[in-house]
Amino acid sequence: MGGERAPLLEVTGLAKAFGPNPVLRDVSLLVAPASVHALLGENGAGKSTLARVLLGMERADAGAILLGGARYAPASAEEARRAGVVLVPQERTLCAHLTVVDNVVLGIEPLARARLGIRDRSRARAVARAAIALVTADPGRVPLDARAGELGVADQQLVEIARALAQGGLREDGRLAARLLVLDEPTSSLGRSDAARLFERVGALRDAGLAVLLVTHFLSDVRAHADRYTVLRDGRVAGEGDPREIEPAQIVREMLGRALDDTRACADTRASAVPEAARPDGGEVVLEAEGVSGVKRPKRASLTLRRGEILGIAGLVGSGRTELLRILAGLDPRRGGTVALRAPRGIGLLSEDRGGEGLMLGRSLAENVWLSPRAPRFARPRSVLSEGARWIEELAIRACGPEQRAGELSGGNQQKVQIARLLREDFDVLLVDEPTRGIDVASKAQVLALLRDLARAGKAIVLVSSQLDELVTTCDRIAVLRRGTLDPPRPASSWTEASLLLEASS
Ligand SMILES: Nc1ncnc2c1ncn2[C@@H]1O[C@H](COP(=O)(O)OP(=O)(O)OP(=O)(O)O)[C@@H](O)[C@H]1O
Ligand SMILES: [Mg+2]
Repeated sequence: MGGERAPLLEVTGLAKAFGPNPVLRDVSLLVAPASVHALLGENGAGKSTLARVLLGMERADAGAILLGGARYAPASAEEARRAGVVLVPQERTLCAHLTVVDNVVLGIEPLARARLGIRDRSRARAVARAAIALVTADPGRVPLDARAGELGVADQQLVEIARALAQGGLREDGRLAARLLVLDEPTSSLGRSDAARLFERVGALRDAGLAVLLVTHFLSDVRAHADRYTVLRDGRVAGEGDPREIEPAQIVREMLGRALDDTRACADTRASAVPEAARPDGGEVVLEAEGVSGVKRPKRASLTLRRGEILGIAGLVGSGRTELLRILAGLDPRRGGTVALRAPRGIGLLSEDRGGEGLMLGRSLAENVWLSPRAPRFARPRSVLSEGARWIEELAIRACGPEQRAGELSGGNQQKVQIARLLREDFDVLLVDEPTRGIDVASKAQVLALLRDLARAGKAIVLVSSQLDELVTTCDRIAVLRRGTLDPPRPASSWTEASLLLEASS
């Protein structure tokens, strides 16, 4: 698609370095109007940096960009917006305590001025309503006066897109002024049905004339929803074409510069490559929860976790999975029920919210791996650094070295730092919430295989994931959490992705 039409966006010879480290090198890219163009690549390949250059949030060192045939070199996100280029960034940006209307118009002058007149208020509502109508076929899902924090993750994501579109300019009749929408991993926290709903709207926006640059790690989505793709590897273009005319395995090769050993991961990159789960009948019980309830969710959850096993918890977004893990970890108050932990080395949680409570972005990678309530307070800097270096190796974290600031790492690499911190502590019981979010194809398989290794070595693991295939291939048993109630687990071999989805949404 788009070969004959004049491109909307024409990037030529773009280069960008941070200090001595080149991140984008001679990147050229054409995006046709009214098309979905996927941008792929491993964690740290330069995708978000390219997005930030297009948005005027970073200045390129060399190269040229044409937008609609005119020279385009935005010095700020504001300038990009005025040119009709908008971004939904990789990390979420909504203000949880503000309403949907306020979030959508935030930053749009004069609609967001502190003291709004009645006319401005009603215009703000009209713009927000029009923006929401663009991103969902069912606007009732996203009430204009709801606080953003009360919405589920999928609906929050829709509000993020509505906000980007509104900021690019939206007339009250709902016509778009935005020309290019950059979506940086919009579905990384979504389950498949929410992702499908989002792509249905992206398709509608494309048909309405918008060009969409889609950053993603899900190759099946690229095949199903993108008209073109470009692969970045180490900041260079390593492949491009029509995703429907190419084997996913070929795209993976372009991403990695080699074949991914596992053939299954190539066939469907949502599926991951892990050995068949072992039966953990014999392991001693390390965690037992009986009739646990939280402030809102869960309503009732009982489980028994043994050494050597991975227990998966499936459930729709909002079913109470994260809340359950937080109660088990002792981080949130329990309303009812009992939790018994019989593990000398304790219980650790990988939080799904890596920005909020995960990382100290201003500190080094090594310090982030090292620091925990249990770490010795006065560690020798050398041991901190060598431990950091060990985990860079172990999890293939892309960084300049253990001293690099965590905030400078790409999204997927930040996630790996959190995983490293959790694993380094050697807990007996690990609660992992969406461990592969934002992680690239090759590393996903690696992280899941690591969890299996840990279970084999005697750890007990509870795995929450919205990627149902990931649960089916990695877990020993899987339980479904439905509107706050946890059903008894069944062997993973008795589940399929489809049966899990059916059960979770019934
Ligand atoms: N402000 C910065 N200072 C130094 N290095 C940076 C900075 N921002 C990004 N980088 C580096 O640039 C490289 C590319 O990062 P980028 O965020 O573009 O990757 P990405 O392709 O989006 O990866 P992911 O899939 O993990 O999100 C990384 O190695 C990262 O550490
Ligand atoms: Mg990124």
